[in-house]
Amino acid sequence: MVIKVELEGRDFLQVECEGENLQTPGRVLKVDMKGCTEFMEMMQKMKRHFGADLSKWPLPESNDHSSMLLREMILKLRGEWKFPYEEAEVCHCRTVATHTVDQAVIAGAHTPEVVTRQTSASTACGTCRPEVQKIIDYRLGKTPGKVSA
Ligand code: FES
Repeated sequence: MVIKVELEGRDFLQVECEGENLQTPGRVLKVDMKGCTEFMEMMQKMKRHFGADLSKWPLPESNDHSSMLLREMILKLRGEWKFPYEEAEVCHCRTVATHTVDQAVIAGAHTPEVVTRQTSASTACGTCRPEVQKIIDYRLGKTPGKVSA
């Protein structure tokens, strides 16, 4: 199974591991990573301190884009990744994809207002705003490993 997390056109982490079930990933077989200097330095530092198995690394507490990508990868490797919104489109009025909102949050949009400015989500009826907030909260580590109803 290959688990990949990425910022489009920027940083990515790709881990190949045994097993086919994301809830019970097996042993890590191969790690590929590519990214900006900050991202690569962070990965090298983590590897030096905690070894090659990403699933054993502590969750990063910062909310820069590198930390968020790494947190996602670690949670996936632990079988604990529970993204709070599973539909492909989060804002139906403006047809904004969940992925678009998520990428905006990873790239630095950490409030609903900034997400709205960057993606147009929540600019009509506003019923998607709580979902946008859940995505922000999850990405910022406010609800790690928990599913919001
Ligand atoms: S569903 Fe997003 S503004 Fe209506």
